[in-house]
Amino acid sequence: MRVCLTGGAGYIGSHILVGLLEDGHDVLVVDNFANSSPKSLDQVRIITRSSFEVLDQDICNSGVLSEALSSFRPDIVIHCAGLKAVGESQEQPLRYYRTNVEGSISLLEAMDQAGCQRIIFSSSATVYGTPRYLPYDEAHPVAPVNVYGRTKAMIEDIITDWAATDPGRSAALLRYFNPVGAHESGEIGEDPKGIPNNLVPYIADVATGMRTELSIFGNDYDTRDGTGVRDYIHITDLADGHIAAMAFLEGNQGVETFNLGAGEGSSVLEVVKAFSRASNQSISYVIKPRRDGDVSESVANSSKANDVLAWKADRTLEAMCADVWRWRSRYPRGFDG
Ligand code: NAD
Ligand code: UD1
Repeated sequence: MRVCLTGGAGYIGSHILVGLLEDGHDVLVVDNFANSSPKSLDQVRIITRSSFEVLDQDICNSGVLSEALSSFRPDIVIHCAGLKAVGESQEQPLRYYRTNVEGSISLLEAMDQAGCQRIIFSSSATVYGTPRYLPYDEAHPVAPVNVYGRTKAMIEDIITDWAATDPGRSAALLRYFNPVGAHESGEIGEDPKGIPNNLVPYIADVATGMRTELSIFGNDYDTRDGTGVRDYIHITDLADGHIAAMAFLEGNQGVETFNLGAGEGSSVLEVVKAFSRASNQSISYVIKPRRDGDVSESVANSSKANDVLAWKADRTLEAMCADVWRWRSRYPRGFDG
């Protein structure tokens, strides 16, 4: 198939790109490298020994996007481009609404111009907000508690309304839980700019000696050891979920929402221990107050994706940590160092 992958140079996009190329698809990556390095694409070329097209453009640039899609004529778009930092989204809401919401509208318009009727969208478990029950299933109310989450919920609605206007259209809205890990080759992985917001990249910085200690945000939650519990999913399993969704959309019309998670939670302390074992490094930590906006637990019910997409996230937390360690041992400062 001909696939347009927005955000293909990013953490998740680059792993999806590997999967698409390994399956023999023709790919056009659209990315303005706002939060990624073109070197990630070079590494993908090395891993897969395949080539693909790249458009270095902002997705909000609708004229250029329309021209590019009309010329490439994708069968499907996988839409990963966007901004994703919760704290930053609260400080710069308009930038987040413009990039995420306006960028998605611009993309759908370009798809219309190019006659492309299928889209897979990178949504987030963040859309659920405070859990009313756990594990979250897709019927759980959508009530995001931050700007980033609201952009994701809005885009889900926009895609749903777009798809409703033509019975030939189809969309998969994929709500990711906590993607971690790296490609097993150690050649691509997560490369956050500045101080990492997320747990595993921060732990990796401590393990490589770049930072002295991890701050654990709260040990007084109502969980088995008091620290926050999350559903960590290996990045390669997440990428495979997109390949499964592509196959599903080939034979189905309309819009479907899927949780992509492992269906199992791990606490912060469990992740610290698993990483320590995988890296053979001790991870110093200090207990700090809870982080604003954090929930005690977030775990997916992924049975819809398991049944309908015939997909399951089965790589272990140990594998996630071992793969991050391989990537960070080879590239301690990421793609640029
Ligand atoms: P990332 O920042 O590594 O990748 C996003 C990519 O989009 C980057 O390469 C960036 O340069 C590109 N981009 C940003 N703005 C753009 C623009 N205006 N035009 C063109 N390209 C642009 O993030 P990621 O972790 O790979 O996330 C990918 C998608 O998945 C995002 O939409 C994110 O919101 C969503 N998501 C991520 C997580 C996570 O934990 N990483 C969880 C849930 C959902
Ligand atoms: C965060 C975002 C979420 C986003 C996801 C992936 C918030 C409130 N939520 O989710 O919207 O989709 O990242 O980008 O920001 N922790 C520490 N010390 C750290 C970092 C994290 O103890 O230095 C703890 C957190 O309190 C949490 C767990 O580790 O219990 C996981 O945190 P993180 O990796 O940031 O993911 P989420 O908070 O689940």
